Amino acid sequence: MTTVYLNGQYVPKEQAMIPVEDRGFIFGDGIYEVVRVINGRIHAWDGHAARMANGLETLRISMAGAESATLKAVCEKLVADNGLAAGEATVYLQVSRGAAPRTHHFPPAGTPTTVYAAASAFKPNFAMRDNGAKGITLADIRWARCDLKTVNLLGPVLARQAAQEAGAYEALMHRDGMFTEGAATNAFFVVKGVLRTHPLTNHILPGITRVDIVESIHELGLPFEERPVALAELPGVEEVFVCGTTTDVQPLVEIDGKPVGNGKPGPLTVKLKEALAKRLYGK
Ligand SMILES: Cc1ncc(COP(=O)(O)O)c(C=O)c1O
Repeated sequence: MTTVYLNGQYVPKEQAMIPVEDRGFIFGDGIYEVVRVINGRIHAWDGHAARMANGLETLRISMAGAESATLKAVCEKLVADNGLAAGEATVYLQVSRGAAPRTHHFPPAGTPTTVYAAASAFKPNFAMRDNGAKGITLADIRWARCDLKTVNLLGPVLARQAAQEAGAYEALMHRDGMFTEGAATNAFFVVKGVLRTHPLTNHILPGITRVDIVESIHELGLPFEERPVALAELPGVEEVFVCGTTTDVQPLVEIDGKPVGNGKPGPLTVKLKEALAKRLYGK
């Protein structure tokens, strides 16, 4: 039986109910996080908690019941109670602006938020990480606050569906001729031997794994620029990888049906894949 957390209670998943007027359901009016748990230890909790707090504050959703220490304890209890303390797991966390009769403007002050969390077993696809995957390019149709991890995910939903229909894993999105990020990942490129990624602006999510990668790049002394790569540069791109909490470092070896470099994961990508594995697993 799976136990989930809803508004202060631990309940069997089948009994966790939210009102139909919840603003998460009606408007996508909420913030979420996904954390990685390895042998009961949450990776990079502080980064996830800070991003969630920033999202809630920016959207003026109450932090009550969603404080870092509270949510960390919730994650740890869900992992333990669901028999996930050994091996790999993820925890999904979501805070919505709560349930109230439908108005676009905020509900009455004091409307309680809806705080939900659930843990699941997780099995990384190591073969795909080793061999590389296919990608497609796609116009980035998302809104202008992609730095917020809101539950409103129609852009990524449509982008991942397009990727899947093309037999690919990820969609690399571009805005005004520049690559922003993957549908659910941050993207790194190697151009003329230099690693490049989009800088932290309102057009990308500040990925927690991106922090691990940037720190690893500096530790390894690799050439690096936070400068967007143009779609027009793609034919000369030597390596591409995407990264995320459940994606790790995932090389893309073919984009829009054309090989990237020699069609195999490149040397800088492999180095960073190993560096991230060390951070996650300590080896
Ligand atoms: C749009 C987008 N960019 C990047 C990421 C990677 O972020 P993180 O490394 O925090 O998982 C995600 C993760 O879901 C995402 O949805």
